[in-house]
Amino acid sequence: MSDGPVELAPGVHWLGALDPHLRVFDVILKTANGTSYNAYCVRGERGVAVIDTVKAEYADRFFASLEQVASYDEITVIVLNHLEPDHTGALPELMRRAPQARLYISVKAQMMLKALLKSEDLAFVPVDTGDTVDLGGRTLAFLNTPFLHWPDTQCTYLKEDALLFSGDVFGCHFCDGRLFNDRVGDFRFSFEYYYQHIMRPFREHVRHALDLIEPLDLALIAPAHGPILRDEPRAYVQRYRQLSAPQLRNEAADRAKTLLIFYISSYGNTARMALAVRDGAESVDGVRASLYDLQGGEVTPFVDLIEEADGIVFGSPTINGDAVKPIWDLLSSLAVVNIKDKLGAAFGSYGWTGEAVQMLEDRLRGLKLRVPVGGVRVKLIPSDEELDQCRRFGQQLAEHLTGRNARRVIDMSELLKEPHHAQG
Ligand code: FEO
Repeated sequence: MSDGPVELAPGVHWLGALDPHLRVFDVILKTANGTSYNAYCVRGERGVAVIDTVKAEYADRFFASLEQVASYDEITVIVLNHLEPDHTGALPELMRRAPQARLYISVKAQMMLKALLKSEDLAFVPVDTGDTVDLGGRTLAFLNTPFLHWPDTQCTYLKEDALLFSGDVFGCHFCDGRLFNDRVGDFRFSFEYYYQHIMRPFREHVRHALDLIEPLDLALIAPAHGPILRDEPRAYVQRYRQLSAPQLRNEAADRAKTLLIFYISSYGNTARMALAVRDGAESVDGVRASLYDLQGGEVTPFVDLIEEADGIVFGSPTINGDAVKPIWDLLSSLAVVNIKDKLGAAFGSYGWTGEAVQMLEDRLRGLKLRVPVGGVRVKLIPSDEELDQCRRFGQQLAEHLTGRNARRVIDMSELLKEPHHAQG
C-alpha cells in the first residue's frame, strides 16, 4: 500500500493521498471505494514542478512525500490543472514553503484562483493550449480542456516521457493503494460512474479535449483521482470517445428537429391533449415528434433521448396543487445531461386549480431551457376547440424548432392605429 512517493518514471513521482473511507463526494457522488487525491512531481535539470496538490486534511501526507523527492527551494513551477479544493487544499501552504515557484493555471482559472486564495495580489502565469514550460531537459505542455469538470480545468503533458497529467479527466473515485491500473481491483464500474456523473453533462467539451489528447503519444495517464493508467492508457481515451458519442442512432437526426412529448394522465384527458400536441407538431415539415407515456417507461432511456433532442414537452395533470411525481422524477434525473437552451414547454388537464403547467414552465426555465410558447391548460375534458388549441400549440413549438416563427410579418396599418408608438 502506498504511503509516500511512488515513482512513475525516473524523476517523476506520485505524491497523492489515499482516502479509503470517503463514501460521498461533492454531496451527490457515491464513493463505495473511497478515493485518492493524486498530486505529482516532475524533476528537470533546472527545477522541479509540482502538479496539483491534495485535499487540505491530507496536506501533511503530501508534504511528507514531497520532502522525500525534492527540497522546497528546488520547486520552480506549480501547475494547477483544476482549482477544486480536493486538489488545492495544500496550495496555500505549498506557496508559503516554496515562494519562488511560479504558478501555472488556465486562463479561465484566474478569477477562481483569486477567489480561492482571497487575494487580488497574486503572481501567476495563465496558459493555454500550445504553451509550454521548460524544466531543463523536460517540457510541460498545457492543453486547455475547460469544463472537465469546472471551467478552469486543463491537462498537462510531459513531452519527453509521454505522460499526461489529466486532472479529473480519466479519473475515478476508487481508492486502492496498489495505485496502477494493472495492479488494483476491478474499477471499471467506478470509471464509468465517474464519467456519467462528472463528465457527461459536458460531453461536447470532452470531445474537444479528446481532439487534443488523441494525437499525443501516451505512455501513461496520471489522473487526479483513482488508478494511474499505465497499462493500455489509450484504451481509456477510446472509452471516453465512445461514452461522449451520441447514445442512440437517430434515423431522423440529419433531416429533422426532434420534439419529445412526455405525459402522464389520470383519466385520459392529458393523454388526449398530448396526442393533439404531437399532431400539431408533426404538421410542420422537418420536425419529428415523439410521444411517451411516463407511466410505462424507465427513466434512463428517456434521459438518453432527451440528451439528443431539440425540444421537450411535459404534460401533467394537477393533483393536490402539483405536477405528478413521474414528471418531477424525470426532470430531476436530467442533471447528468446538458439540456441548456433546448426548447421546453408544458401542458395539462386539471380539475379545479391547475398549477402544474406554470410550475413545470418555471422549472424548465430554471434548468435554462427556452420556454417560448405559454403552456395550454384545460379544465377536465378537452373540448374540440381546446384540442385545436393543443394542435396549434404543438405547431408553434415545432415552428420554433425549425426557426419558421422567427420571421414575423408586421402589419403597418396596425402600427398606424396606435399613435402612442410613434410618440415614444
Ligand atoms: Fe477532483 Fe473536480 O475535483
